[in-house]
Amino acid sequence: MHSPVAEGECTTCHNPHSSANKNLLIQPTSGGPSENLCLTCHDTGVQVAAKGSRHAALDLGCDTCHVTHKTGDAGQQEFAFHLSASVPDLCLTCHDAAGPEIKKAHANQPITKTNCTSCHNPHAGESAKLTYGFAHPPFAERQCDACHEAPKDNKIALVEGGGRALCYLCHDAIQSQIASAKQVHGVFKQADTCTNCHSPHATAYPQHLKQPLVALCESCHAQQAEQQTTKKFLHPPAFQAGCTVCHEPHASDYAGRLRAGINELCMSCHASDAQGEASSDPKNLVLFGGTVRLPGDYLASVKRLPLRKGAVAGHPMANHPVEGKADPSNPEKPLTCVACHNPHAGNGSQRMFVTETRSSSPLCIRCHK
Ligand code: HEC
Ligand code: HEC
Ligand code: HEC
Ligand code: HEC
Ligand code: HEC
Ligand code: HEC
Ligand code: HEC
Ligand code: HEC
Ligand code: HEC
Ligand code: HEC
Ligand code: HEC
Ligand code: HEC
Ligand code: HEC
Repeated sequence: MHSPVAEGECTTCHNPHSSANKNLLIQPTSGGPSENLCLTCHDTGVQVAAKGSRHAALDLGCDTCHVTHKTGDAGQQEFAFHLSASVPDLCLTCHDAAGPEIKKAHANQPITKTNCTSCHNPHAGESAKLTYGFAHPPFAERQCDACHEAPKDNKIALVEGGGRALCYLCHDAIQSQIASAKQVHGVFKQADTCTNCHSPHATAYPQHLKQPLVALCESCHAQQAEQQTTKKFLHPPAFQAGCTVCHEPHASDYAGRLRAGINELCMSCHASDAQGEASSDPKNLVLFGGTVRLPGDYLASVKRLPLRKGAVAGHPMANHPVEGKADPSNPEKPLTCVACHNPHAGNGSQRMFVTETRSSSPLCIRCHK
């Protein structure tokens, strides 16, 4: 249900006695920000990016597509977004997919059964023709035929049969990375994997990811999603900057597909001498051979340890080892930062001790029985 309706705020939208608008609405559901009821709470299509585009259908009123009180199975777009119909039916009530201009615009690819909003924002786009701002270069340049063959039986046909082979035509560096690295993301055990995470066309997110980064990772990693909602203390790089600060998304030579060995990874931010890598990019903090870029002042708020990079001892107190020994609580593993700290989140304290306690005593006792 639309949130203000669910909250029973009937009179934010309706005047119970009289109104010049239909349905006793206090304002109409069309027009610009000063008159449109919907735009008192939403800013849909009000500001359009310089190179962007705005849907002329907005001028016909929000109620052209939305039916505010419509509710039903929230798994369906029609009900989740209170629409008069789901896409593509909604769009095809005004746009004739057989028209010559629309066919040309889509390089004669069949669109009548596609999700139009996988490429078009229904309201306004960061790029021309209501398309999203983070576009894959061959899509932005409209080289549809680099990936598409002429449709067969009115169905999409892809070069190389689609799948990973298609992407590797132009991304041989990723292909060799996946073929040669010691640790390959388990997701590549599935057949058609690049498009699990990337749209081949355009999206609203960097690297044309299909969802915002953290939500994307959590869509398969329920454990981290659960940590994000249930743990009191979250490690900022994990849930703010995002998972790929530490994990390579495709493949790497380090266990857990980390971007470096665990201690080197953590010390890149927490060592007393951590300062990022030299680069031609002074506005950004550059880490891990240029694969990670964060705002230039990112390290200003980070707690520094009395350890320099490469140190093997001196934390949590003088002379205490942080590597080079076995972990007595888990003798198979070497002693590293994660012998004592969770890398993602914790409940006991901000320190995210693996014992989930506030005090460090149970932690010491874990190894020093
Ligand atoms: C966010 C604004 C908003 C709120 C809040 C809201 N309405 Fe509405 N209401 C509308 C709009 C817009 C319409 C026009 C039809 C449509 O879009 O569903 C409407 C139509 C109606 C109608 C006539 C059409 C129909 O669906 O039968 C009734 C009755 C109604 N609303 C009752 C309520 C009641 C009762 C509440 C409080 C529980 C409420 N509304 C809260 C916006 C609102
Ligand atoms: C009183 C403020 C208010 C008004 C007026 C209002 N909305 Fe909303 N609307 C909200 C809030 C709050 C949400 C929930 C936002 C969120 O979860 O991020 C929402 C969510 C939505 C959603 C997303 C689906 C959902 O239910 O979460 C749609 C679609 C929507 N509104 C359309 C409209 C339209 C169309 C109108 C005009 C008829 C309108 N709204 C008027 C406050 C309002
Ligand atoms: C051409 C049809 C159309 C018109 C006109 C339209 N919408 Fe939408 N709107 C949609 C569709 C389709 C979605 C679902 C998008 C999705 O699946 O992500 C949507 C989603 C939304 C959402 C939730 C997602 C988001 O983008 O925040 C809000 C809020 C919303 N519309 C508000 C409005 C308001 C306000 C107006 C009027 C200014 C309006 N819409 C006019 C088609 C339309
Ligand atoms: C109520 C009618 C209506 C509906 C429904 C509608 N459109 Fe439109 N659309 C228009 C009009 C009018 C224009 C501007 C005239 C034109 O270019 O045909 C337009 C233009 C466009 C454009 C070209 C924008 C530009 O910058 O030139 C795209 C893309 C588009 N619509 C996509 C969609 C999609 C996707 C949907 C479904 C979510 C949709 N339309 C639903 C009426 C509609
Ligand atoms: C694979 C991505 C994709 C999908 C899916 C898609 N479109 Fe488009 N559409 C585009 C691109 C790209 C353009 C702009 C081409 C150009 O540069 O002229 C476009 C242009 C348009 C235009 C403007 C045509 C013109 O006259 O300039 C309309 C209208 C439109 N699309 C509607 C739709 C509708 C309706 C659907 C769903 C039935 C849909 N599109 C599905 C990518 C897509
Ligand atoms: C980099 C390769 C690539 C380029 C360039 C590309 N496509 Fe696609 N397209 C794909 C793949 C792969 C799919 C299969 C759907 C998927 O996996 O997401 C697809 C699917 C589609 C679909 C069906 C979408 C759906 O939601 O079912 C349409 C329509 C489409 N492409 C149109 C276009 C148009 C029009 C262009 C040029 C403006 C274009 N594509 C450029 C790779 C590409
Ligand atoms: C026809 C050549 C071509 C094909 C096929 C192709 N790409 Fe690309 N892709 C490019 C070019 C050119 C760039 C920009 C230069 C670069 O980063 O390598 C790019 C960049 C990217 C980027 C980085 C975008 C950014 O913002 O930096 C991703 C992610 C990507 N492609 C994914 C894919 C996926 C997934 C496929 C398969 C569905 C694919 N590509 C197929 C040509 C292609
Ligand atoms: C599990 C999700 C996921 C899968 C599957 C995936 N990627 Fe990525 N990819 C990402 C993320 C996230 C980034 C952004 C990297 C970052 O933030 O450092 C990225 C970045 C990229 C880039 C640009 C940066 C670079 O390393 O060159 C390219 C190109 C790319 N991916 C291609 C591909 C190809 C080709 C495939 C299929 C073999 C693929 N991706 C499969 C998540 C994925
Ligand atoms: C489409 C599903 C999917 C998505 C999206 C996804 N993963 Fe995975 N991930 C997997 C699978 C499957 C495994 C293997 C699980 C296993 O072996 O238990 C895995 C394993 C992992 C592992 C364990 C070490 C390894 O390589 O086996 C890490 C770390 C990881 N993923 C991080 C990420 C990050 C970071 C993202 C977001 C960029 C992400 N994943 C997105 C499916 C996914
Ligand atoms: C600060 C660095 C860092 C960030 C950011 C980070 N991780 Fe990790 N992650 C690690 C380390 C270190 C390990 C290995 C822990 C071990 O060996 O005990 C790990 C392990 C994992 C594993 C393997 C299973 C497990 O829990 O041991 C998965 C899956 C995973 N991470 C997913 C994610 C996801 C999803 C995100 C984003 C929400 C994320 N990580 C963000 C450092 C990080
Ligand atoms: C990209 C930089 C970065 C990396 C890499 C990183 N951290 Fe952090 N860490 C932060 C930031 C930012 C904070 C929040 C500010 C603060 O409290 O230091 C933080 C906070 C912490 C805290 C809580 C400090 C407190 O407030 O008591 C601990 C413990 C911690 N990190 C451990 C680790 C461990 C263990 C690793 C390696 C698995 C790691 N960090 C890797 C940036 C990083
Ligand atoms: C033997 C267990 C142990 C190991 C190994 C360990 N830590 Fe700690 N860490 C602690 C304890 C205990 C504290 C709390 C110290 C205190 O309260 O003075 C702490 C505190 C911290 C803090 C917060 C410091 C502050 O000033 O508040 C950070 C950040 C941190 N550790 C990061 C790391 C990193 C990075 C590594 C790996 C190089 C690491 N830790 C290895 C036990 C450990
Ligand atoms: C993950 C296991 C682990 C935890 C937790 C741990 N230690 Fe240790 N500690 C070690 C190891 C391994 C050594 C080195 C023993 C050796 O040299 O054989 C060590 C050595 C020490 C030493 C001797 C240092 C020196 O001067 O040589 C002291 C004192 C000590 N720990 C105190 C603590 C305290 C206090 C805590 C809790 C804050 C703690 N440890 C937590 C593993 C741990």
